[in-house]
Amino acid sequence: MVSRAEFTRRRRALMEIMGSNSIAILPSAKEVVRSRDTNFPFRQDSDFHYLSGFPEPDAVLVLVPGREHGEYVLFCREKDPVRETWDGRREGQAGAKKNYGCNDAFPIDDIDDILPGLMEGRDRIYYEFGNHPDFDNQIMGWINSLRAQVKNGAHPPGELIDLSHILHDMRLIKSPKEIEIMSRSAEISAFAHIEAMKACKPGKSEMQIEATLKYHFADHGAQYEAYHSIVAGGENACILHYVENNMPLNDGELLLIDAGCEFEGYAADISRTFPINGKFSDEQKHAYEWVLKANKEAIDQAVPGNPWTAPHDTAVRILTQGLVDMGILKGNLDQLIEEEAYKPYYMHKTGHWLGLDVHDVGDYIEDGEPRLLAEGMVLTVEPGLYFSPKTKGLDKKWWGIGIRIEDDVLIAKKGNQVLTSAVPKEIDQIEAIMANR
Ligand code: GLY
Ligand code: MN
Ligand code: MN
Repeated sequence: MVSRAEFTRRRRALMEIMGSNSIAILPSAKEVVRSRDTNFPFRQDSDFHYLSGFPEPDAVLVLVPGREHGEYVLFCREKDPVRETWDGRREGQAGAKKNYGCNDAFPIDDIDDILPGLMEGRDRIYYEFGNHPDFDNQIMGWINSLRAQVKNGAHPPGELIDLSHILHDMRLIKSPKEIEIMSRSAEISAFAHIEAMKACKPGKSEMQIEATLKYHFADHGAQYEAYHSIVAGGENACILHYVENNMPLNDGELLLIDAGCEFEGYAADISRTFPINGKFSDEQKHAYEWVLKANKEAIDQAVPGNPWTAPHDTAVRILTQGLVDMGILKGNLDQLIEEEAYKPYYMHKTGHWLGLDVHDVGDYIEDGEPRLLAEGMVLTVEPGLYFSPKTKGLDKKWWGIGIRIEDDVLIAKKGNQVLTSAVPKEIDQIEAIMANR
């Protein structure tokens, strides 16, 4: 668990950057209806969680650097014995102070009366505009209520600054504790992938394999998936974010699993592809070997000082070489890359930042150039090849082969550490696991 001290350090670091005479305002996530009066499982907003650890909806975090009565203010739901009997426990204001370290806590229903007073006299508001349309209006309402008081000496803030940019730069570099949690998230996910490999056989359904993954996530203390698991048999693997997971698994086809748990808020994101019957066919093996080579050589490029695009450029080169070797593309390698001839078979990027969100925050471009990798960043490396029967002119022997091999890579002081290395990806390792279960 991230300690109270670390949450405090994060808020202090943010306030340091904001400077005095400013205020930051950040709302929690909201409950979302799934069906009539039942909600989706509540998931706290990642930015809100990063700064507070506070797990409830209907809350607003306010940071007021240098405020005499305390810099950290939280608005949250009041204790309510009846609602708590029906819907679950609430911290209330006392709990927010005692367990989450805010200096002041107020009922969320009093925010209109109190927040303008906290804004008054501050020059700048740090806020994530555009993410929460209702809240945008509330912010303007509070500013306007101060503007109406100017004749009485009120000083409304004159500048609105985007909070996400600063906060997301902080989130991009993981602390030692975050790395420890992400390693565990990767370890649990790796274990579940191996169990899924063992459970897979012709006649089972994608849904049953999804259940195996979910069982092992939860059995190891990860209550939720970091994203809806992709369990894609045969040509379903050519749909990049296939989540229906309701088809039978057929003998002779591949299964692509892209799944990771969320552990203590942090995502893992792993893809593996293996034969449903435990043995790769010649075509499957041929394509797989090129994706594997792309995965390994791209990972070698994920080192400090390299642009974040280096793994992608390497993967594209190797996959294009592979497509030529398989007889799918013909021509000069550089020209094929230049013309993006690989795109019908490899249409996505080779990775993304990973953290509290599976597609985590942080700019990819800095001063107009691809960002350079640095110690403490975590990114995925996920090359693939997708041979859909719908691809024009593609020899039938490749149809339905969809392969992605995805690992989570921590950029170290020197080189990198593959957090997901526990899931086998060599052909002989996969075949051995599936033969000996
Ligand atoms: N699981 C989604 C992705 O790999 O980006
Ligand atoms: Mn993935
Ligand atoms: Mn990914």
